[in-house]
Amino acid sequence: MKAVVLERYGDGFDNLALREVAEPQMGPADVLVEVHAAGFNPFECKLRKGWLQRFYPFPLPHVLGNDLAGVVVARGPAVFDLQVGDRVYGMQETMRWGSYAERTAVRADNLRRMPANLSFVEAASLPMVYETAWMGLVDMARIRPGERLLVHGAAGGVGQAAVQLGRALGATVAATCSADALDQVREYGAHVAIDRHAVDFKRLLQGIDVVFDPIGGQTNLDSYATMARGARICVVLREDKLEIENSERLCRERGATRHVVAFEQRADVLDYIRPMFEAGLLKPAVGHVLPLAEAAEAHRRSDGGHARGKTVLQVR
Ligand SMILES: NC(=O)c1ccc[n+]([C@@H]2O[C@H](COP(=O)([O-])OP(=O)(O)OC[C@H]3O[C@@H](n4cnc5c(N)ncnc54)[C@H](OP(=O)(O)O)[C@@H]3O)[C@@H](O)[C@H]2O)c1
Repeated sequence: MKAVVLERYGDGFDNLALREVAEPQMGPADVLVEVHAAGFNPFECKLRKGWLQRFYPFPLPHVLGNDLAGVVVARGPAVFDLQVGDRVYGMQETMRWGSYAERTAVRADNLRRMPANLSFVEAASLPMVYETAWMGLVDMARIRPGERLLVHGAAGGVGQAAVQLGRALGATVAATCSADALDQVREYGAHVAIDRHAVDFKRLLQGIDVVFDPIGGQTNLDSYATMARGARICVVLREDKLEIENSERLCRERGATRHVVAFEQRADVLDYIRPMFEAGLLKPAVGHVLPLAEAAEAHRRSDGGHARGKTVLQVR
C-alpha cells in the first residue's frame, strides 16, 4: 500500500515522502481501516521536527497521522462493536503507523461510527480538536450556560472547535483571531470577534468565566486581566517559561483555576459530538483539502502559522 513516510527528523519538508510500504499488522483488539481521509494537526509538525522524541520514541521510518475517517475492512477476534463496512472516525495512537496511509490498523476502542451526515473529509477533521476542546470546556472548566467564554486562536483548528462547542453549550463567546478571519469566526458562533493585531482584548473584555487558550505566552498572561473571580483558564499543553513563572501568582491574585489540557485518547467524546453534528449544532470547518501525496504541503502551510479551519488529506 502507499503511505507518506517520515524518513528522518528535521525542520525541512523533504523528510516526508510517498512510498510503497508493507500492509499494517493487526492485533486482536484492532480493526483494519481503509483510510479515506486523514485530518492534519500541527502536532504532526512537532513530531516531524523531532521535538517530541522524548515522549514518542518511535523508530524511523514512521507513518504520521492521528485523525482519520474511513471504512472498516477487517476486525480482530476481540472486536465486537464495530463491523466490516462501518464508516468510522477517530484517532490513531501516535506510536503506531498512522493515517497518512491507504490502510491503518487501529484499536477499535479509539474509533466510533461517523456522524451520518458528514463526508469522510469532514469527519476526519474532528477527532483531535473536539476531544481537546471537550476536555477543556466540559471536563475541566465545567462550563455552564450563560457563562462568558474567551477563545484564542479561534480561526485555527482547536480554536474553532472551542468556539462552536462553547456556543452550542450555551456560553456567550468572545474570540480572538487576525482581521481576515473575523467573519469566519463569527460564523463559528462567536458573539464578539476581536482582531488581535488591532485591538487590545484585555482592555475590551471583563467578567470572563472561562478562557480557552491554545496560543500561550503573553496572550495567556493578558487573559487573566479579563477574568471574573473564580474563573477557569484552560491551556492547551505546552511548556512556556513565561506562563510557568507567572501563572501561579496570577491564579492566586484572580482567584482563578488553571487547567492543562494534555493530549489524550478520548473516543467517548466522539459519541457526545456525533448527535450534535447530526443536529447541525456543530459544523465541520474544513479549510484545505490536499491529496495524500501533498502531506508535506500541509506541514508547510501549518508552519506558516495562520491556519484557517482544518486541513485534511484526501486519501481515496
Ligand atoms: N491536546 C493537545 O495537546 C493539543 C491538541 C490540539 C492542538 N494542540 C496545540 O494547540 C495549538 C493550536 O492548534 P490548532 O490545531 O488550533 O492550530 P492551527 O489550526 O494551526 O491554528 C493556530 C491559530 O493560531 C493563531 N496564531 C498563530 N500565532 C499566533 C500568535 N502569536 N498569537 C495569537 N494567535 C496566533 C492563528 O490565528 P490568526 O492567523 O487568526 O492569528 C491560527 O489560526 C498547536 O500548538 C497544537 O499543537 C494541542
